[in-house]
Amino acid sequence: MTVYSPLTAPVCLKQYLERRNALMQMMRDTTDGGIAIIWTAPEMTRNSDTYFPYRYDSDFYYLTGFSEPDAAVLLNANDGTSTLFCRNKDFEREIWDGYRWGPEAAAQAFGFETAHSIADLTQMLPALLANQGILYMQLGNSIAESYIKIAYQTLRQQQRQGLLAPEHIRNIYPLLAEQRLIKDASELKTMADAASISAQAHIRAMQNCRVGQREYQLEADLLYTFRHQGAQSPAYNSIVATGANACVLHYRAGDSIVRAGDMVLIDAGCELDGYASDITRTFPANGVFTAEQTIIYELVLAAQSACLDYLAPNKLFNEYNDAASRVISQGLLDLGWLKGSLDSVLEQGTYRQFYMHRAGHWLGMDVHDCGDYRLLNHTITYSPAERPWRPLQAGMALTVEPGIYIRPAENVPEAFWNMGIRIEDDAVITDKGYELISRTAPVDIAEIEAIMRQ
Ligand code: GLY
Ligand code: MN
Ligand code: MN
Repeated sequence: MTVYSPLTAPVCLKQYLERRNALMQMMRDTTDGGIAIIWTAPEMTRNSDTYFPYRYDSDFYYLTGFSEPDAAVLLNANDGTSTLFCRNKDFEREIWDGYRWGPEAAAQAFGFETAHSIADLTQMLPALLANQGILYMQLGNSIAESYIKIAYQTLRQQQRQGLLAPEHIRNIYPLLAEQRLIKDASELKTMADAASISAQAHIRAMQNCRVGQREYQLEADLLYTFRHQGAQSPAYNSIVATGANACVLHYRAGDSIVRAGDMVLIDAGCELDGYASDITRTFPANGVFTAEQTIIYELVLAAQSACLDYLAPNKLFNEYNDAASRVISQGLLDLGWLKGSLDSVLEQGTYRQFYMHRAGHWLGMDVHDCGDYRLLNHTITYSPAERPWRPLQAGMALTVEPGIYIRPAENVPEAFWNMGIRIEDDAVITDKGYELISRTAPVDIAEIEAIMRQ
């Protein structure tokens, strides 16, 4: 059944119920049951009495589809029920801030066995926790920890009544991360739509780029397309970096003027219905690649293309990363900027003068999505270096984003200085290999030049 909240996208109940049930099954498999509580994100004050645009907690939304602040969900893996805590109806506040479901309507619309006011949670929590052996919670989350701390203090005072606080507390994040790492069909559809909107935004920026513009004007083109196409917001702060700014990896769109001869690096992606996209394109300010720009751009593109050969089920996560380092290192050796053998460059990491990040990351509700990159082998060790890399699986989504960043240096001819080039696409692992969901934004030099001529 699909129900429509007055404010949000359609809520597909079944998928949220399935996710809650799957999580409770994992709790039963791991610890024979227990209860879990997951809080959503708080509203954040911007200044005075204004707030940053609200963004729910990804885990909470993944399990509930409920997008209001001040909410928590309690899952009881012993009996398979789930309970929502949310804001009461408040007709005065709704006049100012908009519709609130209230516990009663929310329980029905979002498929919870029960729902209560979040205002009652502090008082109800000790009884809910009492004599439960195992509590799963968001360890490190300050809202969760402050509620649980008060409940434990209360239960300690009620020991004589035979009430015991859960003896074991476990971190809920690793279970949720495993669950979210493999995307279902509806998630992949939303991610493909998000990537498609972001690709359109990159094309618009390429088309509108003019020498003499400011970086923030290109950012405006991105934001225009995101919102015009229905995305709620950028998935992260857009990077629009011209010339030397592109060598600053987390540069923001600033007010630098785009100059003839610059390469412009744009790393921007929208968030659509809770899912991120993450695309980087780099193009010449005046629409035509110079000889030097072509050499570096083609090297980055070759590195990205080498990565794609390693995107398939059962390839290990690090294999595509290593492919990028290898191609870039060989290219830098061929240019004479690095010395020694390919093996020594890779072993000593001297390529990091020009390529200092990894080739990608999981992508999902969060731009750097949850999910372990290595397997935990309890019988051997927790040491990161000795934990085996994770094999890729159908339904995983990740970015492929090699780059080369050239700061002024004696081992590099001056014509190449202050150039930063990254090419980033979003990939989904399929049964046979991979699918790129962001490629409607072109990467070929001829295609980029053609778009910029339009
Ligand atoms: N935009 C952040 C990243 O590419 O990882
Ligand atoms: Mn990016
Ligand atoms: Mn990325």
